[in-house]
Amino acid sequence: MRLRSLALTDWRNAASTQLNTDARVVVLHGENAQGKTNLLEAVWLLATLRSFRDNRPGRLIREGQPEARIDGVVEGDSGQRRLSWRRTEATRQLLIDGAPAARLSEWFALLRAVLFCPEHAGIVRGEPTDRRSFLDRAAFTAQPSHLELINDYGRVLKQKGALLRSRGPELALLDTWDASLARIGARVALRRQAVLDELAVPFAEAHAAIAGGRSAGLSLQVRGIGEDARDEAQMVERLEAALRRARPEELRRGTVLCGPHRDDLLIELEGRDARRFASQGQARSLVLALKLAELEAAHRRGQSPLFLLDDLTGELDARRMARLVERLGALPGQVWITTTDPAWLGPLPTGNTAVVRLQNGVAEREA
Ligand SMILES: Nc1ncnc2c1ncn2[C@@H]1O[C@H](COP(=O)(O)OP(=O)(O)OP(=O)(O)O)[C@@H](O)[C@H]1O
Ligand SMILES: [Mg+2]
Repeated sequence: MRLRSLALTDWRNAASTQLNTDARVVVLHGENAQGKTNLLEAVWLLATLRSFRDNRPGRLIREGQPEARIDGVVEGDSGQRRLSWRRTEATRQLLIDGAPAARLSEWFALLRAVLFCPEHAGIVRGEPTDRRSFLDRAAFTAQPSHLELINDYGRVLKQKGALLRSRGPELALLDTWDASLARIGARVALRRQAVLDELAVPFAEAHAAIAGGRSAGLSLQVRGIGEDARDEAQMVERLEAALRRARPEELRRGTVLCGPHRDDLLIELEGRDARRFASQGQARSLVLALKLAELEAAHRRGQSPLFLLDDLTGELDARRMARLVERLGALPGQVWITTTDPAWLGPLPTGNTAVVRLQNGVAEREA
């Protein structure tokens, strides 16, 4: 899968810029605030229809303009397809080859991407919610319908929460919500565990490759109600029983205390919880290994998502960076990297690397 070209119109700080990106590795560089992240964000938005930063339309559209546009030509299993995204303050339009996209699933099938940005250090060192989001994002990349599942679960959670907070909640209604929570929650837990099972081996491999063998005592485990969720019927029962036990406490506190929305992902390095023990560089190496594992898992499923890396600048020591860049050069899918200075990256993969300079929102390919 490859993005052959990208055109931005009134997107963030880009009034109008066009880029041919037939290369396998695209390096975007330029000084601060020139629009490197904006451009990467546009690629991510085409793939996921979401930004990884402030998502409000008013922020995405160039100041003072009525409409932002992103156009990309994707080359994948179904040949070359043109994806066009249009956004005004109030409306969004999605066109595939010039015709309105009938279904989101059709859109998502054409372009997939995995993202690494500096904030993702939070997957290792941040709150449980960062790690749950990582798992759900990985599950979405594997199977875009995971998004609907998560939305369904969130809706039930919200409604049950509202009922718990109401005065004298009707118990029969609570039973109904608990049945839904157990049913949908079980599927969420199963999908997360399935993704983790897929990631385990490639994660260890990628980490060993980046860390140069300093990979002892590495493990990934779901912690909480969804731990080892591999059998759906069993998981539904486990949740139902836990919800029954939690009922008095939930009524007392007016909040949903039990379900996969409270699970965490335990990441261990050298047999210790990386959240507390990993150094900054170790945390980044772990996150990069998770992302590379996602790509490898996708590859095993016959997909080759884009890998977007924002701000690969001083993230790693020189040897880890060199090993990472070597690995990036060997990925089957297209890789996009932003950096203030390509020298940070060390030797770039030879052949089929495009170096693009960003200046004031305008992208220009260098020889
Ligand atoms: N809607 C908008 N209209 C106009 N300018 C915008 C809009 N949104 C963002 N910008 C501007 O785009 C500029 C470039 O942002 P971007 O984050 O892409 O920079 P960058 O090249 O990644 O810089 P850095 O090296 O600091 O990460 C910023 O100065 C920002 O203020
Ligand atoms: Mg940036």
